[in-house]
Amino acid sequence: MRIFVTGGAGFIGSQFIRDWVTRFPGSPVINFDKLTYAGNLANLAPVAGEPGYSFLEGDVCDKDALLEAIPENADAIVHFAAESHVDRSIAGAAEFVRSNVMGTQVLLDVARERKVKRFLHISTDEVGGTMDPQEWFKEDGKLDPRSPYAASKAAAEHLVRAAGATFGLDYIITRTGNNYGPYQFPEKLLPLAICNALEGQRIPVYGDGMQIRDWVHVSDNVRALMLLLRHGRAGQTYHIGGGVPRTNLEVLAMLLSLVGQPQSLLVRVADRLGHDRRYAVDISKISAEFNWAPRIPFAQGLRETIQWYQENQAWVNAVRSGEYRTYYQRQYSQLQQAKHTGSAGVI
Ligand code: NAD
Ligand code: TYD
Repeated sequence: MRIFVTGGAGFIGSQFIRDWVTRFPGSPVINFDKLTYAGNLANLAPVAGEPGYSFLEGDVCDKDALLEAIPENADAIVHFAAESHVDRSIAGAAEFVRSNVMGTQVLLDVARERKVKRFLHISTDEVGGTMDPQEWFKEDGKLDPRSPYAASKAAAEHLVRAAGATFGLDYIITRTGNNYGPYQFPEKLLPLAICNALEGQRIPVYGDGMQIRDWVHVSDNVRALMLLLRHGRAGQTYHIGGGVPRTNLEVLAMLLSLVGQPQSLLVRVADRLGHDRRYAVDISKISAEFNWAPRIPFAQGLRETIQWYQENQAWVNAVRSGEYRTYYQRQYSQLQQAKHTGSAGVI
């Protein structure tokens, strides 16, 4: 398969590419990413020199760049690129509308022009809005986005479905719960809390901390994405999740006891505006059709994720200091130097 991945320098996209290159060595995969604050080429360091993998810096709103980058008859586009943090969308929604809505439409147009065979669109359980206590979000449930981020993702979904109905685009939409695992930018709850806990720093709890989220390990999500990319039914939406929604306080209590820090590190802060109380994603469709289930129990995944952050302090420091933003440039100039002096080097 020849695939074109957008947003592959982010958290989930980079896991997808690392796993793809490991599973299908030599199979061509292009990573197209704007390298916003959330894009970090260090996330691709383990596969950067592998045959088949290539990186192109670019914006999904840039039609000319996409037309140049996407090969005719590519087997698939896997569309991760998006602004992804709810708090940032509350602070300013414009970039969310631009990248998540406009960007998706531009990509859909180019997919059609380039006769791409399949469009795998990565969406979120947040498009369903907050769920009542016993309610589960199913694939045919109503969309009720309540943050600018969720609204932009819901709009993008509509555009994908419209391209399917209008132009016969072969698409699949996935909606995932909260992913966690290595290489996640420490602004989202778990990586932020892990980094703070490891340093004995306080952890901000929004409101009463009783908000409920469904946590799925990023590797389990990526395994589902690869399955659906190859075998999913065209025009379908599939939910992916961990199956065990938990309160933020429960998750943070587990984390602190695993790290061996006191619960007193948790500090209540002002609640997020319009904070969704409960997400609970129903995963019975993908389970029934493909026998897919998450394999990594939350306690194990959390322990391993903590260990990853402990062992990758250099990655954390580079992100926190902002040094990661020059990683690519440094690698690139090293490559140029290596070429100049005749020694080997690959970005
Ligand atoms: P992320 O913020 O870690 O990474 C996003 C990536 O997209 C970055 O590399 C960034 O540089 C790139 N990007 C942003 N705007 C771009 C643009 N205009 N053009 C090209 N590249 C651009 O996000 P993530 O957590 O890896 O999420 C990936 C996708 O999965 C997103 O679409 C998100 O909405 C969705 N999702 C995430 C979660 C989660 O828990 N993280 C849950 C459900 C769905
Ligand atoms: P987050 O990781 O931002 O993901 P999302 O809002 O997309 O679910 O937040 C997860 C939950 O944790 C959410 O209920 C907000 C809460 N939260 C905190 O309590 N403190 C924090 O510092 C952050 C970032 C989030």
